[in-house]
Amino acid sequence: MTPEKYESLLQKLDQEENLSWAEIVAIIATPCPELDQKLFSLADRKREKYVGEEIHLRGIIEFSNYCRKNCLYCGLRRDNSTLPRYRMKPAEIIEVAQKIVDLGIPTVVLQSGEDLAYPTDLLAEIVFQVKKIGAAVTLSIGERDREDYLSLYQAGADRFLLKQETFDRNLFDQIHSDDNYDFRLACQKILQEIGFQTGSGNMVGLPGQKAKALALDIKKFQEWNFDMIGIGPFIPHPKTPLGKHQPDSYQQLILTLKVLALTRILTKNSHLPATTALGVLSAKGRETALRCGANVIMPDFTPIKYQTSYNIYPGKSSFEEGEYRLAQARAMIKRLGRKETNHPGHSLKRHPHLNPLPRRERKF
Ligand code: 5AD
Ligand code: SF4
Repeated sequence: MTPEKYESLLQKLDQEENLSWAEIVAIIATPCPELDQKLFSLADRKREKYVGEEIHLRGIIEFSNYCRKNCLYCGLRRDNSTLPRYRMKPAEIIEVAQKIVDLGIPTVVLQSGEDLAYPTDLLAEIVFQVKKIGAAVTLSIGERDREDYLSLYQAGADRFLLKQETFDRNLFDQIHSDDNYDFRLACQKILQEIGFQTGSGNMVGLPGQKAKALALDIKKFQEWNFDMIGIGPFIPHPKTPLGKHQPDSYQQLILTLKVLALTRILTKNSHLPATTALGVLSAKGRETALRCGANVIMPDFTPIKYQTSYNIYPGKSSFEEGEYRLAQARAMIKRLGRKETNHPGHSLKRHPHLNPLPRRERKF
């Protein structure tokens, strides 16, 4: 694509806040530092217009690194026998959640590998307890049955993250040896029908991933009207089958930011985190993301003794206390001249097609 054509697509993006799949492919496939910068500023303006100056903090607890799945890219995969495994006890999880709330963070994210050793009833009880502390609860625990999702919702869980990782069916099949593209989307549909605020996301820079695949991800994010979308670079982990792939990190940073910026403009008011993986790829990665469309930071509060073992990709664990990460996040917000929210930061979207089920009072 010529620079003139890129420039005219930027104008269209500004006016119509939409592009076709083919037009997005053209932007992604055209490297042009000057126009890429214009795209980033446009995304920053649209972020201001649709979600304002507020930045939402979400405190994450990675409560178990056991996983029944074997995704080819992930350090937690079942076959990675070099990884020491841990499970946090419910009381430990609640204690960390209390700390997160005491530090003024309104949302707790409970994240784990797909670990069926936590039966749904137990998870529901944990959710209920964390809600009682006064936090909004996001779950990120992978695929379960409708009944499980329903009881977690009834226990009070507000949001659910289930990333598709890529919407390109062939690529999805190549990097997931034991997962099914349609099944994962069916889970997503169930979560939306139940009434969860739902999140998806992708990885950028996967082996064989072309501009066409990334453009498809962006169109699907828009079509599904996700409340939250996590966009991060793929970082090879040496103990996985994709460990030898080495993307050029500068190109990957720009590409990830372009996907983020386009997603902001097309999805308007979705919540987009400055992902940890972006911070690992580049020291200023998260801060830059917050100037290219992102409006959420998710500091990790997993106790230090477990952090090393939640080794999804190299460089993820920096062995710092949650308090320290929070201070860093708050300093970042200040440098950017933005504001930290003092409310849960629920979705700004309306889902008129959804009719959330009433929540049952639960007693434990
Ligand atoms: N690089 C970057 N992100 C990864 N994830 C898993 N493996 C990697 C990797 N090698 C992300 C995926 C997944 C979550 C568990 O972590 O997006 O959803
Ligand atoms: Fe398990 Fe998720 Fe890692 Fe796949 S990406 S191996 S499901 S933790």
